[in-house]
Amino acid sequence: MKKTLIKNIGKIIGIVPEGKLRKEGAEMEEVETLEDAWLLIEGEKIHSFGSGEPPAGLSSGEHTVRTIDAGGGYVMPAFCDSHTHIVYAGSRYGEFRDKINGLSYEQIAERGGGILNSADLLRETPEEELFRQSLERAVEVMHKGTGALEIKSGYGLDTENELKMLRVIRRLKAALPVEIRATFLGAHAVGRAYTGRQGEYVDMVCHEMLPAVAAEGLADFVDVFCDRGFFTPEETLQILDAAQMYGLRGKIHANELAVSGGVQAGVSRNALSVDHLEQTAQAEIDALKGTETMPTMLPGASFFSRLPYGQAKNFIRSGLAVALASDYNPGSSPSGDMRFVMALGCIQMRLTPEEAFNACTLNSAYAMGISRTVGSVTAGKLANLIVTVPLPDLAFIPYSHHTPFISRVILKGDIQS
Ligand code: NIG
Ligand code: FE
Repeated sequence: MKKTLIKNIGKIIGIVPEGKLRKEGAEMEEVETLEDAWLLIEGEKIHSFGSGEPPAGLSSGEHTVRTIDAGGGYVMPAFCDSHTHIVYAGSRYGEFRDKINGLSYEQIAERGGGILNSADLLRETPEEELFRQSLERAVEVMHKGTGALEIKSGYGLDTENELKMLRVIRRLKAALPVEIRATFLGAHAVGRAYTGRQGEYVDMVCHEMLPAVAAEGLADFVDVFCDRGFFTPEETLQILDAAQMYGLRGKIHANELAVSGGVQAGVSRNALSVDHLEQTAQAEIDALKGTETMPTMLPGASFFSRLPYGQAKNFIRSGLAVALASDYNPGSSPSGDMRFVMALGCIQMRLTPEEAFNACTLNSAYAMGISRTVGSVTAGKLANLIVTVPLPDLAFIPYSHHTPFISRVILKGDIQS
């Protein structure tokens, strides 16, 4: 099996014991490190690591070992981005002007823009072209250090085009070394053909779209935009219950625009994550305590849409875990830069660099059900790693948030850049 030795590592950061799937409360402050280290990759996985000189004799026998000199830089787990909408057609730069002129996300949506605008564009775009555009974005974030990515449908809004999106996600999974999970988000908005008939649209999502998605095995999770002006908690439960029959667990858009009841709806059906959470009160924290649901916040959407930032610090003080993700999408967060997400977590949400690091790696991996295989430096996990330039401290990554810091991205044991 192919072996790669990374030597001359200034510090390995983000070492987590096997079996530790998420960090909650005060644990989020812990980032285990090892100085003056080496790390050995075998095949796609991390084989072993240690401090001091690498073990002798690695190159013996017929196995040659490729060596990477980290030059005193850090080795850290690649970022995990558990909430994106990177499969979309074109862009929505026109609405950027509306936004600057003062229209809110909801006002843009009410005028027929927003998600429906992207749905119109996507319907006109052939699958091949949609794949090409989406691949470009996936490659972009890969070079920015993202090694695991969740991608949602939700700009099709009819069966044919939802399936088209999910097939594009399947092709991305096959084309890239990034670990990808697909989420079916038929209930992102009511498709134009169903205007004024929301109940019928929800029935169609449950009885037509979901069976078709499940028949092709195209989705790992199901999502609903449970918020003011979009779908109600009751409709959300209807969709989550229908999805459960196909073994699809929920990852809910909740509490972006209002205290929507989405958190409680998700928790009541053991959703894997409830995401956004710009608008929460103590009731949402209480609902999440003792559950397996990962609260996921999207500071890039708060930044771009000028929404309040989620109360991540309160969540952590209450003993909860928090994950951060980019929400990369054409309307509310046209960026998938997880380093910037980490910086916003620190600057705007007052997370410590350590808390933000855990939120962007292990906890975000948990929020897509893959923290057994990615999200930390752990023997046996996939070798999805960032080798950095020499850094004075972990804090430098979010602090100097646009100074290049990546020397190499390694995914599944192979150097990508
Ligand atoms: O997560 N809030 C709902 N969905 C996306 C935005 C999608 C869009 O505007 O295209 C979000 O912010
Ligand atoms: Fe989203």
